[in-house]
Amino acid sequence: MTLKLRRLSNALGAEVCDIDLTKPMSESTFGEIYSAFLQHGILLFRNQNISREQHIEFSSRFGELDKHESLPRDRHPDYPELLMVTNKPNPDGTPSESRYTGRSWHTDFSYTTNPALGSLLRCHQLPEVGGDTLFANMYMAYDTLSDGMKKLIADLHGIHLSGTRKINVADKGNERRTEVMKLNPPIAQPVVRVHPETGRKAIYLGEKVKRFDGMTEEESKPLIDYLNKHATQPEFIYRQMWRENDLLVWDNRCTLHQALGDFDETQIRHLERTTVKGTPSGYVVANG
Ligand code: SIN
Repeated sequence: MTLKLRRLSNALGAEVCDIDLTKPMSESTFGEIYSAFLQHGILLFRNQNISREQHIEFSSRFGELDKHESLPRDRHPDYPELLMVTNKPNPDGTPSESRYTGRSWHTDFSYTTNPALGSLLRCHQLPEVGGDTLFANMYMAYDTLSDGMKKLIADLHGIHLSGTRKINVADKGNERRTEVMKLNPPIAQPVVRVHPETGRKAIYLGEKVKRFDGMTEEESKPLIDYLNKHATQPEFIYRQMWRENDLLVWDNRCTLHQALGDFDETQIRHLERTTVKGTPSGYVVANG
């Protein structure tokens, strides 16, 4: 089978048309999907009315799935492979702890020594308008730097912190935040990461990084701010405007993403994510 692909933006992403994930899929078709994933960084499958089991089963073709030990409170109670990204209140009426997940530029689990290969996010319920997600192409971000800047950042390591999301001042989610930070000590990751499968260099940074290893925050901030601004400029972006039953997979090794708060938060936005484990990367920083 030759996949029918439709590009999503100039920078990255493709929609895979004419695939029904409720049906069995051959190894060779999955091989084409995986090649397209490596080439485009993001693949979108629309109209996939799949069960949670099918979401997990399809995801596990990309690799071993994370059981989300680093975010234990956000797991689905019956499926540890599914991470809830939802503002649906808890059964006891308290606010969902994952309602602000992903609200800053990041790549999944960069604050662990097993950062994610990919993530597969499925849209269950949406507000009337908005609730979009931005993605940015980190190969482009690296390739468009000057030779001087490439040399300057070649050996730098950024220290990735958990629990740095932008929160509403009214959010009293401190207990979760403290727990997540205790479970996940600061991890230094290379600022320029070589993609383990394509061999291409990509910027690996985002807003979870406040300083470079061996440097102070004050010294690091101007360069971190420059790199993040450069890396997330409109030319490198795809904006996902969700529809119910969309399934989107992204390559965390060469993209950044950010969930937007561009919606009425009294309306439900409910998505569920699987996370595919990547190859080990980074090291623990004692005084992060
Ligand atoms: C995430 O960062 O995994 C969540 C993205 C989103 O909610 O759009």
